[in-house]
Amino acid sequence: MWWDNAVIYQVYLRSFQDSDGDGVGDLPGVLARLEHIAKLGAGAVWLSPVYPSPNYDFGYDVSDFSAVHPDFGTLDDLDALITRAHELGLRVMLDFVPCHTSIEHPWFREHPEYYVWAKEIPNNWRAAFGGPAWELDPQSNRYYLSSFFPEQADLDWHNPQLRAAMAGALRFWAQRGIDGFRLDALDRISKDAELRDEPPAAGPPPLPLDPADAELEHPFSRNAPGLEVPLKTIREAVGDALLVGEVFLPTTELGPYLEWLDICFSFETMFAAGDGEALTEAITAALQNSRPGWVLSNHDFDRLATRAGPGNGRAATLLLLCLPGPAFIYQGDELGMGNGVPATPVQDRHGRDQLRMPMRWDESESAGFTTGTPWLSTGEAEVPSVSAQERDPHSTLTLVRAAVTLRAELDGPVAVESPAPGTVVVTRGDHVIAVNLSAEPQPGPPADGLELEANPGDGRDLSVIPPHGGWIARRPR
Ligand code: BGC
Ligand code: MG
Repeated sequence: MWWDNAVIYQVYLRSFQDSDGDGVGDLPGVLARLEHIAKLGAGAVWLSPVYPSPNYDFGYDVSDFSAVHPDFGTLDDLDALITRAHELGLRVMLDFVPCHTSIEHPWFREHPEYYVWAKEIPNNWRAAFGGPAWELDPQSNRYYLSSFFPEQADLDWHNPQLRAAMAGALRFWAQRGIDGFRLDALDRISKDAELRDEPPAAGPPPLPLDPADAELEHPFSRNAPGLEVPLKTIREAVGDALLVGEVFLPTTELGPYLEWLDICFSFETMFAAGDGEALTEAITAALQNSRPGWVLSNHDFDRLATRAGPGNGRAATLLLLCLPGPAFIYQGDELGMGNGVPATPVQDRHGRDQLRMPMRWDESESAGFTTGTPWLSTGEAEVPSVSAQERDPHSTLTLVRAAVTLRAELDGPVAVESPAPGTVVVTRGDHVIAVNLSAEPQPGPPADGLELEANPGDGRDLSVIPPHGGWIARRPR
C-alpha cells in the first residue's frame, strides 16, 4: 500500500504557516508550504483537526465534524490543498476525533442520547488531564462523562444513531479525496456500558498517565471489550483509506485495533527515545506485536530533540527514519526544534504550548510564520530556520532529506539489537544503522561503506559508534 514505507508529516495547523496575518496558521498557509513537505520526501501530510471548535482543546473539541474552522479557511481552501498535494505526490490525512465532541456541538443539546450520562457520579473514572471524569451539566442537573477537558463530552458508541452520524462525517471527508485518518484517543472508543469502577493498579502504568489515573487499572473506562462494532463502522465508512490509531496502549494490546486499522502509533518507542536499550526493546516489541507507525514526538509530549536528551536529536531522528514501516515526523523536528518555553499568555491548560510553537521558515522576526502577531509566543526558538538550514550541507534538515532518500533503499530482513550500552543497531538487508545515545564511544557492528552520518564526522571510523551519534553503512559482503 502507499503507506508501507511512507514518511508522514504531521502539521499542527495553528502553528505551521499563517496566510492572512491573523497570527494563526491556516489551510492556504499549508498549501503555500506543501513543497517543503514534498521536498522532505514525505508521502503524506496529516493535518491536526480542521473542524470548527471553541478551542478549549484547540480543535480536539469539535463542534461540527463536517466543516472547516473559519480561522483555518474554507472547505474550498481544503479542496485546493488536497488537489495541490496530490499533484505533488502527497496524500492528505485528517485528524478525526471519534470519542468526544465539544459541549458546544449542537448534538450535546439536540441529541443528548449520543453521550454518556449519569444522575450521580457513578464510578471512580478519572479524566486524562486530571480530576474526575464526570462533569455536572447545570442545565439538566446530570453528569456527563468527560475523559479529557471538562468542555469535551464523551460520545456513546453503543448508540447506533451516533455510529451512523459519525460514519456520515467520515464519508463526507473520504468523498472529498482525503486519503487517511489519524483516529484520536481511540482507546476511549469502547467503554463499559455498566460504568463499573476501575480496580486499583497492579503496578506502574506501561505509558505515562496523570498520577491519580495511574493508581487505577483501566478495564472499563477505556479499551473495553466490544471494539469491533465501532471500528467496523469506521472502516466501512472510509473504505481503504489509511487508518492510523492513536491508541495509548503498549503494542502487546493493539491486536484488536489492528483487525480494523492499518497501523497504530508506537508509543512505547516514543517514551524510550533517549535510552538505547529501552528503544531496542520497544522497537522489537512493536515489530513482534503490531504494525507500528513509528513516532518519536507529536503535539502532546516533549519534542524529539528534547526527549532524546542533549545532543541525541540527530541520532534519534536518523534511527526513526530507518525503521521498517511508516514513520511520522512532527513539524519542526526536521529542523531539530526542541521544546520552547511556556507561552504567555498560556494557551493550553495542559501545558503543551512549548511543543506547538510556530515553524521557523526564515530568519525574520516572525520567522516567516505570520505578518501579524503569532497566536503563541514561546520565546526564543534556538534553531536555524528552514531557509538557513537549506543552505547548510550539515544541517538537520539536510540530514533528514538524505535519510528519507536513503530509506527507500532499505529493505530485506530486519534485526534490532543493543550490542553495547546506549546503542541501537538495526540491520536491514545490506545495510546497518548504528546509533549511540550514550556519552561514551561504543564498538560498532561490522560495516564498510559509509552511507550517511548523524553528525558530521560520525562515520570517520566505522569500528566505533561515536557518543550521541551514529551512521548508516553497508554491511560487509
Ligand atoms: C490528542 C490531544 C488531545 C486529546 C483529546 C489526544 O490524544 O492528541 O491533543 O488533547 O486527544 O482529544
Ligand atoms: Mg491565519
